[in-house]
Amino acid sequence: MNMKRAFLFVSAGLMITAALSTIPIFRQTSPLSAGHSGMYLQSAIASEKTGKEVLSGEQIYARNCEVCHSMRPPAKTAPPIVGLASRFRKVHGNKEDAVTAMVSFMKKPDAANTALGPRAIKRFGLMPAMSMPDEELAKVSGWLWDQYDPNFDTRGNCR
Ligand code: HEC
Repeated sequence: MNMKRAFLFVSAGLMITAALSTIPIFRQTSPLSAGHSGMYLQSAIASEKTGKEVLSGEQIYARNCEVCHSMRPPAKTAPPIVGLASRFRKVHGNKEDAVTAMVSFMKKPDAANTALGPRAIKRFGLMPAMSMPDEELAKVSGWLWDQYDPNFDTRGNCR
């Protein structure tokens, strides 16, 4: 065997070893732990793609809003959600406009830009700005709009 053929022979062998080592059964780890690391890798890749876990509007409310906004009276430190849903229906006739208004308000609360009456601001004070991604603000706002309850219509007086 000349040098060149010997070299090709060795590199082919290395390539086969490398290829086989990618197949779980040829690895030194047990199939169970190989499966687990695969699973973690998958979820790491998934969360890297989305950047974050995807939450529903209700989950966003529970994590970021419920501390101040109860669903219904009695109020905590902010107008209850069903009252807000009723108010936004009265002030903005449609969901799209209401969501746009809620998102811009939450990013930069401004007493001059409120959909509530001056009495609400006086009673509760101004809401602090929410530092959340726009998609989450839009999602929770859409969810809030959907909480409108005809049996609990405050006619825009958001208690
Ligand atoms: C630290 C307490 C607090 C948290 C947390 C909070 N809010 Fe508020 N929010 C208030 C207060 C107080 C008001 C009433 C005064 C005002 O409108 O600024 C209010 C008002 C609002 C309004 C009416 C805005 C307007 O036009 O005046 C909306 C809509 C709203 N909140 C949605 C939310 C949502 C959705 C979340 C969660 C992402 C949230 N809030 C989190 C305190 C809070």
